[in-house]
Amino acid sequence: MQIYLDYSATTPPHPKAIAKMQQVMTQQWGNPSSLHSWGEKSALELETARIRVASLINAVNPDSILFTSGGTEADNLAIMGIARQCSNPQHIIISSVEHSAISEPANLLESWGWQVTRLPVNKQGRINPWDLQTAIQPNTVLISVIYGQSEIGTLQPIEKLASIARSHNILFHTDAVQAVGRIPIDVQKLGVDLLSLSAHKIYGIQGAGALYVKPGVSITPLLSGGGQEHKLRSGTQAVPTISAFGVAAEIAQQEMATETSRLVALRDRLFDQFAECPYLISTGDRLYRLPHHVSFILSDLFAQQAPEVTGKTIVRQLNLAGIGISAGSACHSGKLSPSPVLSAMGYNSNAAKRGIRLTLGKDTTQEDIDWTAMVLKQILVRLLPLCVGC
Ligand SMILES: Cc1ncc(COP(=O)(O)O)c(C=O)c1O
Repeated sequence: MQIYLDYSATTPPHPKAIAKMQQVMTQQWGNPSSLHSWGEKSALELETARIRVASLINAVNPDSILFTSGGTEADNLAIMGIARQCSNPQHIIISSVEHSAISEPANLLESWGWQVTRLPVNKQGRINPWDLQTAIQPNTVLISVIYGQSEIGTLQPIEKLASIARSHNILFHTDAVQAVGRIPIDVQKLGVDLLSLSAHKIYGIQGAGALYVKPGVSITPLLSGGGQEHKLRSGTQAVPTISAFGVAAEIAQQEMATETSRLVALRDRLFDQFAECPYLISTGDRLYRLPHHVSFILSDLFAQQAPEVTGKTIVRQLNLAGIGISAGSACHSGKLSPSPVLSAMGYNSNAAKRGIRLTLGKDTTQEDIDWTAMVLKQILVRLLPLCVGC
């Protein structure tokens, strides 16, 4: 039995997205900037995808969608594209639980003399809007806060945070890579200036993404060249993957209402199966949470008896049982470092190595959930020398 529970890492491409990609590769493979009919056919696919992606986030003007190579590039374009509008180093605000596609560009700006404020979060990983209010300075040019946190599932109060930014005339960006396609996103209602998306998190193909840029907001491009994407992202567009992204966006929009409630029920069922287990403690916010996201840390009680066990151990053990999940923290060069996200939430450095994440998706069934819960409990028991069961 093979059970994939790592849909936040990537999603299997939807068959209709694959079919669209194959169709474009064989029939509309022209350069969308070319003026002949080959180019026109390809440009039509590109613009259809733009309309579909815009519709998914209720962007009224499809030209506010800039296609990129993925979420990482969209995040970098948002941060650096605004920073490069300034002639001198200024101040930006991010949260302390950003994905590295935001925290790394912010670190780079800091090394260039920018001031960076990293907003604190509570034990559930949520920002208090008051902390944003007090962090704003006269030279703050951008605020960027992740919408749905990939490691702990917590959703941030983006509408509230964006309205604080707006009241100070400061641009607001959100990394919505994990949230898009999973919860309804309406850029008008949210009041954001910039928003990042990624195709492979919504059953599209890896290698496509987009940055929504509200009409009237200026960014400086990071790439110089042929001036594609309204001169904001040079380089011939990857039309096959982008058109597949458009198809995936349309399907996500059509299926979101039913799929979201199905996933919430499965997510809560999985949480419930561990509610009484003293060895797993849920992480993140249980109310303001991505619908497909379940995360835990191994408890102190567990760690006292099996101190060498980390989140990575559990990932490996479950993999042996045919179940694919993620550890909470990144592993660099074989060395497991504490998760910066769990650390920001107040977990000590040992606990911050004991995170695990199970993320559900369209092929996840109730049987998968029940089987995974049973196998995970057995693994925990096996890893404990003095186990009393859970
Ligand atoms: C919150 C978040 N932002 C950005 C990214 C990067 O997206 P991509 O893999 O499309 O570059 C990810 C990927 O996991 C993510 O979860």
